[in-house]
Amino acid sequence: MFLRKKEKQHTLDMKRIPQHIGIIMDGNGRWARRRGLPRTAGHKKGADNLEHIADYCASLGVKALTVYAFSTENWARPQDEVDTLMQLMYDYLLTVEKKFAGRDMRLKISGDRSRFSDKINHAIDHAEEVTASGNGMVLNIALNYGGRDEIVHAAKMVAERVKNGTCCPEEIDETYFAQFLYTADLPEVDLIIRPSGEQRLSNFLLWQAAYAEFWYSDICWPDFKDRNMRQAILAYQRRDRRFGGVK
Ligand code: FPP
Repeated sequence: MFLRKKEKQHTLDMKRIPQHIGIIMDGNGRWARRRGLPRTAGHKKGADNLEHIADYCASLGVKALTVYAFSTENWARPQDEVDTLMQLMYDYLLTVEKKFAGRDMRLKISGDRSRFSDKINHAIDHAEEVTASGNGMVLNIALNYGGRDEIVHAAKMVAERVKNGTCCPEEIDETYFAQFLYTADLPEVDLIIRPSGEQRLSNFLLWQAAYAEFWYSDICWPDFKDRNMRQAILAYQRRDRRFGGVK
């Protein structure tokens, strides 16, 4: 009886799988340092891990997975680390068509693309195009992304519309504004996960985090496995989400 009850507590409720999960893929550097490896080795391992976790999320029926791969602040890192991250991203984009074949997944890149080389921008366009018909899950990679930057970008687009007369200030409400965010075509973010022990958002999905549940783990991202993801979702399913109301 006890065992059965315990087992039940550890079974995911497939009807309450978070629709949209955000992950801050943190701890790559520490994972590498602990093994006497360069930080870049941690990023490589982290990129491989993303593939496993994306597959696991898709298999659970998650509709969108947004991962923080490079922030607007990450340009301040040593040049060789920035170069490795850009190269990893480029290599990944080139293999997306093959990787996503038979996976029913769509790739989306969110962030300010103006700082990327033409080579990377073409690879992004191509990768998004060849996966556009994937209906199962959107893998949304936040690249040169900052939550504040995203909000400023949206505000500029709204201001432009007011200026050219296609919108008047009275029309602007949260729903109107949100259509200019990178996540406009994705469901509300339900759960944000941060591995590696840190407990802050670091400019990730600031608008979208308003009512998302937060879960953190001490495990570094390269070691974050399906069972940890499952743990996060189980914790999410135990939360009482009131959205500011009373139940
Ligand atoms: C934070 O860990 C991680 C990043 C800034 C980069 C995350 C990028 C990847 C996992 C690779 C993504 C690649 C593809 C192809 C999507 P950190 O370096 O700050 O770790 P630390 O806090 O231990 O130093």
